[in-house]
Amino acid sequence: MRIERLRIDNFRVFRHVDIADLPPLAFFVGANGSGKTTLFEVFGFLRDALQNNLSAAVAKRGGFKELRSRGCDGPIVVEVKFREHDDGPLVTYQLQVGERDGRVVAERELLKYRRGQHGKPWHFLDFRHGEGTAVTNEADYDVPDAEMEREPQRLNAPDILAIKGLGQFEKFRVVSSLRRLIESWHLSDFHIQAARPSQETGYAEHLSPAGENLPLVTQYLYEHHPAVFERVLARMKARVPGVADVQAAQTVDGRLVLRFQDGSFRDPFIARYVSDGTIKMFAYLVLLHDPSPHPLLCIEEPENQLYPTLLGELVEEFRDYARRGGQVMASTHSPEVLDAADVSEVYWLEKRRGFTTVHRAADDAQVRALLAEGDTLGALWRQGLLGSANP
Ligand SMILES: Nc1ncnc2c1ncn2[C@@H]1O[C@H](COP(=O)(O)OP(=O)(O)OP(=O)(O)O)[C@@H](O)[C@H]1O
Ligand SMILES: [Mg+2]
Repeated sequence: MRIERLRIDNFRVFRHVDIADLPPLAFFVGANGSGKTTLFEVFGFLRDALQNNLSAAVAKRGGFKELRSRGCDGPIVVEVKFREHDDGPLVTYQLQVGERDGRVVAERELLKYRRGQHGKPWHFLDFRHGEGTAVTNEADYDVPDAEMEREPQRLNAPDILAIKGLGQFEKFRVVSSLRRLIESWHLSDFHIQAARPSQETGYAEHLSPAGENLPLVTQYLYEHHPAVFERVLARMKARVPGVADVQAAQTVDGRLVLRFQDGSFRDPFIARYVSDGTIKMFAYLVLLHDPSPHPLLCIEEPENQLYPTLLGELVEEFRDYARRGGQVMASTHSPEVLDAADVSEVYWLEKRRGFTTVHRAADDAQVRALLAEGDTLGALWRQGLLGSANP
């Protein structure tokens, strides 16, 4: 499953943005306030809309007027083009959100794909204001169009997504995949201070956005995926000098703490007393070696607190994660991260007169020419040649 194209209209700083040819791993550079976090937020918005409804997702973001690009009319539009498999059809999901009589509504919700190279785009579902048509018989890509049955349908409310509100979709693969992409989307915005304290004992398989459940996930990996845990530990030892072992240990009052064993000393250090970089590297290894990767993982500025020479290897870990089936998008301000990226993986955000556009580094002739002469992406960024990404 991979998103290949993302189109956004009227969502905060993105009045109109079209990001094409998204690779499995993509880096976004841009000045403060250019919209890197907002780009990831689009997926948070979709998730809230799916888990609750559009009204709740909009209200959480300050209301429709706050969310829609300032001074703009028309609906907020998010369009995601994705493929379930490399050889599957390109599926388009489009959502238009507007306001009617003070209520947030789905002005249009559409799921379509093209059959074969030249076939007509085929509407799997098409809804406006809570009413529309949807296919009702079992749908796999190879059912001939003529055998598809469509029926008019009505949702309980105009702010509920049809991909959620129509029970029959549970058995439809394309909808399940889309829902899984949105529901399992994960944002990593790791905060050292959140990950340091001890954690109530409990159970967690996936690292939380800020990382505060790191001890629980460590214990889970240790107990249920020992081979993965060993791999994490081996990388940790190779990258952070002195780290010989990491354990999630229970304290007398029943809490769980991480303990880092330094080869030079008999007693381990508890997480509170190890370095920022040590915690962060460990947290990233736990995140990236997750036995069931998130279909889409967004990472905020992974470089913070890490030693620059480790960043190239971290980018390799992102790439491995993407190869195992999870798409990765990361925001970055780091020349070392850019140096480890391929030109096809880099996009820059440029804000002009209040609104941002997104550019592919590979589309820029000057960037391509300079790279061919031996320049590196990090050096070009430092020189301000990736748009105005370096202010
Ligand atoms: N409705 C809106 N219309 C236009 N712009 C908006 C709207 N809402 C928010 N913004 C602007 O969008 C920007 C949001 O930036 P965002 O936090 O995504 O930037 P960033 O690239 O993540 O920055 P940083 O590097 O500081 O983390 C802000 O500059 C904010 O003023
Ligand atoms: Mg940000």
